[in-house]
Amino acid sequence: MIGGRRETASMKKDGGKSRIAAAIFVGILLGCIFAFFYPDGFFVLSSSPLSRRRVAASDLEVITSSCESSERINLLKSEFVAASEKNAELKRQVRELKEKLQFAEQGKDSAQKQVMVLGKQQKAGPFGTVKGLRTNPAVVPDESVNLKLAKILEKVAVNHEIIVTLANSNVKDMLEVWFTNIKRVGISNYLVFALDEEIYNLCLSNGVPVYKKDVEEINEDKNFESIARTGGNHAVSGLKFRILREFLQMGYSVLLSDVDIVYLQNPFEHLYRDSDVESMTDGHNNMTAYGYNDVFDEPEMGWARYAHTMRIWVYNSGFFYIRPTIPSIELLDRVAGRLARENAWDQAVFNEELFYPSHPGYEGLHASRRTMDHYMFMNSKVLFKTVRKDSQLRKLKPVVIHVNYHPDKLWRMKAVVDYYVNGKQDALDPFPDGSS
Ligand SMILES: *[C@@H]1O[C@H](CO)[C@@H](O)[C@H](O)[C@H]1NC(C)=O
Repeated sequence: MIGGRRETASMKKDGGKSRIAAAIFVGILLGCIFAFFYPDGFFVLSSSPLSRRRVAASDLEVITSSCESSERINLLKSEFVAASEKNAELKRQVRELKEKLQFAEQGKDSAQKQVMVLGKQQKAGPFGTVKGLRTNPAVVPDESVNLKLAKILEKVAVNHEIIVTLANSNVKDMLEVWFTNIKRVGISNYLVFALDEEIYNLCLSNGVPVYKKDVEEINEDKNFESIARTGGNHAVSGLKFRILREFLQMGYSVLLSDVDIVYLQNPFEHLYRDSDVESMTDGHNNMTAYGYNDVFDEPEMGWARYAHTMRIWVYNSGFFYIRPTIPSIELLDRVAGRLARENAWDQAVFNEELFYPSHPGYEGLHASRRTMDHYMFMNSKVLFKTVRKDSQLRKLKPVVIHVNYHPDKLWRMKAVVDYYVNGKQDALDPFPDGSS
């Protein structure tokens, strides 16, 4: 009882102070709660303005009834200002969180990818001086993916660059023309990826750098073995994207080459090396090789009858230089993945992955690309339809000629050698422009 009385007495004595303190506390607490639940502020019109106003009014009542001193009001005011500042800070944080959430929903790894591609943030320089990134950084070499191949590459590659071809005995004769001319030009950094024993032995007996998967490696991959042994052109083409991956992972740039190609100069002296993929074109002149504005005409549209389109002849997936970068490896994975799932032509898939932009439901690759000079890295349409009939162009010395447009490959390859190497001026004459 006594204790109770004492309490009441002390309450009487400190009554004024403690009530004010309680009121301040309640005021701040409410302020914080509002700051949290109503980050837009009290007096902003929103879905339920009435309920907000009521709460604000009762808040004021508490303050006026429990506090007469103007000092206290000033204190409360400053507390209120502090709370509003906190409110603004909270609002900013919420906004940031929302943005981050949105980002995460758009693509879980897109932020990470952007950091990878963009690297350090930088200011844009003055007009005309800015340049985007097309030469992506090389991956960190990982030799552990294939120690046996790593050993060969260490010996054969020059400046971490190498020409690679895949061959089985179906293309033996062309392969002989292929490596004979490579040797003649003086190229040492090339490698035959032998898909069967016969090709492996042919290379060994001709002093041609060769690699063949071990039996154990192949046993782990039944699909590989059957394609390698019996596969036609297209099936083997699918394999090459899987094989190339190991070279890139180990940090090597590869000039992938089909066997129906005659080497007349060393291609490594004619590369730009500024893009993920630098490729031979199937185009036959500047427009088709490098891109042009193809106008689509719809007369019934009247004023807007012309729709502009962009066209470019496909890249030739039988001759391209690919740098060991993340976009390059992603390209190989995407092409190999699709070829495993779809019954598709590897060159079409290669080009679609290289060129289609991102769109709803699809994320584009966005690797950097360069089209090779179509006179230096010449396809057989350019040679037989144009060059051999033009007295000036006949004098050109291409780097390579790819007999991609013609089925009688071996004979045309030999004629190319006769014309460009042996100086037989009429060697190209017997052939029709196309196939007869
Ligand atoms: C084709 O392009 C090359 C390189 O850009 C240029 O030097 C040449 O003059 C062009 N030829 C024609 C016919 O436009």
